[in-house]
Amino acid sequence: MIVNGVNMLPGQAEYPKNQWYVIAWSHEVNSEKTIAREVCDEPVVLYRTEAGEVKALFNRCPHRGMPLHSDTGRIVNDTLMCGYHGIRFGADGRCVEIPSGGVIPNKLCVKSYPVVELSHWIWIWPGDPQSADTSLIPDHFELGLTDPSLFSEPGITLEVKANYLMPLENLVDATHITFLHHGLIDTGNVATHPYRLEVAGGRIATVREFTNEPLPPMLKASMGIKGERVDRKLTLTAYANHLAQISQEFIDVDDPEAAPGRLELVVALTPAGPKRTVQYALFATSFENKHPGRFDDLRRLLMEDVVVIEEIQILFDTLGAENAPEVSVKSDEANIRSRRFIADSVAAERSLIPSRSVEA
Ligand code: FES
Ligand SMILES: [Fe+2]
Repeated sequence: MIVNGVNMLPGQAEYPKNQWYVIAWSHEVNSEKTIAREVCDEPVVLYRTEAGEVKALFNRCPHRGMPLHSDTGRIVNDTLMCGYHGIRFGADGRCVEIPSGGVIPNKLCVKSYPVVELSHWIWIWPGDPQSADTSLIPDHFELGLTDPSLFSEPGITLEVKANYLMPLENLVDATHITFLHHGLIDTGNVATHPYRLEVAGGRIATVREFTNEPLPPMLKASMGIKGERVDRKLTLTAYANHLAQISQEFIDVDDPEAAPGRLELVVALTPAGPKRTVQYALFATSFENKHPGRFDDLRRLLMEDVVVIEEIQILFDTLGAENAPEVSVKSDEANIRSRRFIADSVAAERSLIPSRSVEA
């Protein structure tokens, strides 16, 4: 599928760089030791200043290309010292010292990235720094991460050896739940259940409402309900192209006194490269979830998807995306909308078209 000249073919879809992506969990970044990540094919080094601010620089020294996160390098007074010849760079990427002396060349600097720390995550903008607009970061209150009535905590990181579009579409596709995750999070009624589509720009959701529905054990545990049946509203939202929200509002019908509950599974998706995606997944819940196996369950569930997605990626690579099978059906309409929105974003970034043009 080519949209506005942008390649959205399966297994090789392009992504916008003028976008916020999660690059790390907040707790992973400190002032003692740098960490290395990748976003949109760019190596990034992250660290924290003594004042607690997170900084991100291109992770290659402009002198001879040494990775700045190397063990021989160091954080020195909020600057990064390269571990090869000791040249130091400030948080803005400018060189502040050459131990061997001489004038500092203008080009001896590294790209520094806009970063925002919000709730449990560090967001990074790999594109044009002048265009970085924090209002484009998904609303963390709506995600449940800053809502004081909900509990949230850092979750799990999963790497998928596939183009980002596959995990994004997988996470917001309810119709596979009945089959791929049968018995784990569905008793067989989601795929055939009617849904409605809600579209607001790059936020594309499908909503399903169930009445007096039996629940399998894993879902019961993650919802913290005591009964066997619930009334449930299931909303799967793609924030094209960098996040998926699986939202469940429910009432335990076996316990008329029980308060309505809410469970958010939020998964940020970061294209490390064209065929490598990192998922940062966490829960926000209306109750304090102390179930000790909650993240093991989540990993087990998401790995069922990862195995399939990686197999499909291999198939696409083998056949060539143009020859790979992909015929969409009605229930794929939300994902097709996402693709168009993402393609428009990429095209707008390249100035192929002046602005986004997506029908609501
Ligand atoms: S490669 Fe970094 S100081 Fe020489
Ligand atoms: Fe799944």
